[in-house]
Order: sequence, then structure tokens, then C-alpha cells
Amino acid sequence: MSSTEPHSPDAARSTTTGERSVWAWDIYWRNDHLHACVPVSNPRHLKALEAHWHTFFAGLGEEATIVDLGTGNGSLAVMAAKFAAERGLSVEIHGVDAAAIDPLRSVASARELLAGIHFHPHTRIEELPFEADSIDAVCGQFALEYAEPHGAVAEIVRVLARQGRFGFLLHARAGALMERAAMHRDQARHLRASGILARLAEVFEAIREAGTETAGAATGRQRSACESFEAGLREQLPWLREQPDPELPLNFLRAVEQLYQAAGRLAPAERDRLLRDLETRLAAREARVAAMVEAALDEAGLQSLAALFESAGARVAERRLLSLGDGGPTLGWWLSGQA
Ligand SMILES: C[S@@+](CC[C@H](N)C(=O)[O-])C[C@H]1O[C@@H](n2cnc3c(N)ncnc32)[C@H](O)[C@@H]1O
Repeated sequence: MSSTEPHSPDAARSTTTGERSVWAWDIYWRNDHLHACVPVSNPRHLKALEAHWHTFFAGLGEEATIVDLGTGNGSLAVMAAKFAAERGLSVEIHGVDAAAIDPLRSVASARELLAGIHFHPHTRIEELPFEADSIDAVCGQFALEYAEPHGAVAEIVRVLARQGRFGFLLHARAGALMERAAMHRDQARHLRASGILARLAEVFEAIREAGTETAGAATGRQRSACESFEAGLREQLPWLREQPDPELPLNFLRAVEQLYQAAGRLAPAERDRLLRDLETRLAAREARVAAMVEAALDEAGLQSLAALFESAGARVAERRLLSLGDGGPTLGWWLSGQA
């Protein structure tokens, strides 16, 4: 599906966007990130998001079981745990994700809250490990739209108890967040296609040979590999100047250049490992943001998803754009209701 095509939950897809990008999320969640796609840089916006979820959690009883779908490192599950702890509620919280998550090990902050959450790695929304009619609230933050919609909605409705509630924040196709994701996807694609990492690998190979071949030949190869690499970096400058926000490519190219500068001092195995790491992280970034753009719903996609809930017997209460506070950014779609 091209990035300009509107995404409809009914569109036939051989594999879901979620399945295709799980390997990239495995990598992302190994790092110390509690959130993805959440406006953490602006405390006012984060507070407004928390307030939104508090309104959702407030409808639950004193003892409730909550499931956070596509939990990642537990951003939303932690908000639920904090909400319950502050009010002395006896809430059981589960977080499921298709990726190999291990939030307690990966995330340095919120340890106490994370320790109380039951995490289920390698678990798809389309196959939830819960009994029918057993869950009081199923929620998710930028996750349901990555799943196969028919299977996912059927599972959500199956596990929800009578009158159980659901609430999902979903990527909206229009808006600043998606524009940024599409820009990062295109930048990562450009950098991968630029061949700069192949030129760096060639420098490493020439340095390795310098240890085994006659000095003259090896030095000649090394010199031309270095010249080719440096020319490759210079070739990126005009493109870099055209970028409306060059942060991603600048950080990447700086890391590539630092590795080039350090190459002679590093052990060959370490050098190769760092190069592979740069390559994998760039590919993972591209896969994540491409999946994000592909998963995003336009208004018709939202309506189709709501219709799936209704045809599974649930009642949809709200379907609207969610903005953070007065004049704050639009974060995505909000879809909520009851079984
Ligand atoms: C954008 S991240 C959101 C993470 C988290 N909810 C947050 O707000 O930080 C999307 C997550 O959905 C997960 N995911 C994608 N498809 C899935 C599926 N079919 N079943 C379960 N998880 C899935 C990915 O592994 C990823 O962790």
C-alpha cells in the first residue's frame, strides 16, 4: 500500500503492518523508552494526555482488570497503575505486545509501577490470552490500528465482560505527527539508499587488509576507500540543507563519521559490530515510521473500525479527534465504547 493511499481496516492485507514491523519494535523497546509517539517533550501535553486517560479509568470500579494492547514498555499501563495507586484501587493490569518486550529490565524509571503490571511479550492482539467475559477494560495507545482489524476486534469483544469498556487512541492520517513520521521514513530511506555505510565497510576492509598485505598496496586501497567515503559524506550536504528538520540525518551522519574517525583505534570485531548496529538501527527506524504511516487511519478507516465493533455486538460511544488541551496538538482518533 502506498503512503498516500488512505488506509481502511477492510483493505485486504497479507500481513499486518504490526507483524511486518515487530522486529523493529523489539529493538526499540530494548532501550530505556517508556513511550513511543507520546508527546513527552511537552509536560503540559503529557499531563493533558494523562488527564484524558484518567477520565477513561475513572469509569471503572474499585476492583477491575485492565488490559493495555500493544503496550510497548508500558506507557499506558503505567498511567493506569499510577491512577489506581493514587486512589487505593485494587486493579489488575496486563500489558500485551507482539514484540519481545521486557519493560522491567529495559526501563529505568517507574520501576515500582512496572513491577506490579503483568506483561505478555510475543502476544498478538488477535490472540489474547484471557478468558471470555473476564476483562473490565481494554485500552490501547497507538496499537490497535497496527493489528488485523477483524481478528483484533473479535478478540477484544470476546474478552470484555458485560458492560466492559474499551478506549483506543489511534494514529490519525492527517496531522503533524504523521507528517513528521513520513519525513523520517523518507530520510531514513534516503540514507539507507545513499550507500554511505557500504563505503564505510569498504574503509574497514581496507584497514583489515593493511594488516595482512604489503604496505604499499594496502595503503593505496585504504586511501581510495577513505576518499570515496569522505566524498560520500560531502555528497549528502546539499540534500541535508534541503531538509526541513535535519535532526535524524544529522545524528546518523555524525555517528557514521565518528565511527570512521575511530576506525583505526577499534578492534576489527568491535568496528564491525558498531557498523552493523548503525545499519540495523537505521533500518528499524525506517520500518517503525513506515508502519506508523501505513497504520494511520483516515476518517473512513475510523468509521470502518467503529462499524466492526458494532457488528461484533459492542456499543460505540465516542469517535472523534483528540486534541491535547486548549489549542494543543491533535494527537489522534479517540474511539471508545462498551461491550
Ligand atoms: C506505536 S507503538 C505503541 C506503544 C505504546 N502503546 C505506547 O504508547 O508507547 C505500537 C506497538 O504495537 C505493537 N503491535 C503492533 N502490532 C501488534 C499486534 N498485532 N499485536 C500486539 N502488538 C502489536 C508493536 O510491537 C508496538 O510495540
